[in-house]
Formats: sequence, structure tokens, C-alpha cells
Amino acid sequence: MAEIQYKHSITVEEYENLRKSVGWRPIERAQAQIGINNSRYITVATVNGQAVGMARLVGDGGYVNVICDVIVREEFQGQGIGKRLVLSLLEYIREGLSAGQSSIVYVMAAKGKEPFYESLGFVPRPADTLGCGMTQWIDK
Ligand SMILES: CC(C)(COP(=O)(O)OP(=O)(O)OC[C@H]1O[C@@H](n2cnc3c(N)ncnc32)[C@H](O)[C@@H]1OP(=O)(O)O)[C@@H](O)C(=O)NCCC(=O)NCCS
Repeated sequence: MAEIQYKHSITVEEYENLRKSVGWRPIERAQAQIGINNSRYITVATVNGQAVGMARLVGDGGYVNVICDVIVREEFQGQGIGKRLVLSLLEYIREGLSAGQSSIVYVMAAKGKEPFYESLGFVPRPADTLGCGMTQWIDK
């Protein structure tokens, strides 16, 4: 099995290709580049120099964190890469905390991917005291 390596930068082309590989809608390139530039932390899995997975952290630098663009190319799924990608973001958040501080981490699970996030400690919503996560796209 080829060796998997991890890095913390991504080109806009790698980002576009990973999104395309799982059938997600294209993001206009300039907008995608701004998103990359403004991410707090990005972890990318590579095999032979090729990006095969990614996870991206955005947030306010305070206590609010959002995990997005968690992608592993289909042929590399089921090998623990997705888990390592998300764990690296969680570790980054934990390392940034001082004693007594807390951070919340939000993620919007794709349909059927809830168990993946539950295995990483996320609590599904709605729950007894938590409403649904909600989203909308704004197009122009
Ligand atoms: C979701 C995704 C990132 C998971 O990546 P992966 O590398 O295949 O996941 P891993 O091999 O690290 O799996 C980690 C754990 O989650 C579980 N898991 C992964 N995908 C799962 C699924 N669809 N349903 C149930 N459990 C799942 C694994 O069994 C494993 O459990 P374990 O730790 O008990 O062994 C990958 O399937 C993917 O890219 N899908 C398409 C894009 C997508 O939907 N991303 C999520 C957006 S919110």
C-alpha cells in the first residue's frame, strides 16, 4: 500500500479536484482561493504527491470553529484517512486553547455520514436540548 503523507497547504487546483471527485458543486475559483487563504488550518493527505483527501477549519479565532470540506477520494476511503484529517483539526483547536478555555466545533454532516462524525466525538442534532443545524445557499 502506498505511503500516505500529510501536509497543511493546498492549491486551488487540488481543492477543486477533490471537491469534483466527490461530486460537490464547483466554487468559483477566486472565491475558492479566498476560502483557502482565510482558513485557519487545512490538512491534506497525499499519496505519491497527489492530494487524495482534505479537511478544512474555519472560525473566528475565538471559540467558534467550523469544519468543512472533509473529503477523501473514493478509492482511498475506508483506510482511516478521513479520521486522521478531522483529528488533526481537532488537535489544532485543542493546542490553541489556554487552561480554562473551551471551543465549540460545528460540522454539517452529509447524508449518511453522521456515524463517521459520531466516531470522532460529535453529537448529532437535533437532540433533547439541541435543535437542527440549518443551512442555505445564497446565489447571485
Ligand atoms: C466521509 C469521508 C470523509 C470518510 O472518510 P474515510 O477516510 O473513508 O473514513 P475513515 O476510514 O477515516 O473512517 C473513520 C470511521 O468512520 C466510519 N465511517 C466512515 N464512513 C462512514 C459511513 N459512511 N458510514 C458509517 N461509518 C463510516 C469508519 O467505519 C471508521 O470507523 P472506526 O473508527 O470505528 O473504524 C469519506 O467517505 C468522503 O470523503 N465522502 C465523500 C464526501 C463527504 O460526504 N464528506 C463528508 C462531508 S460532511
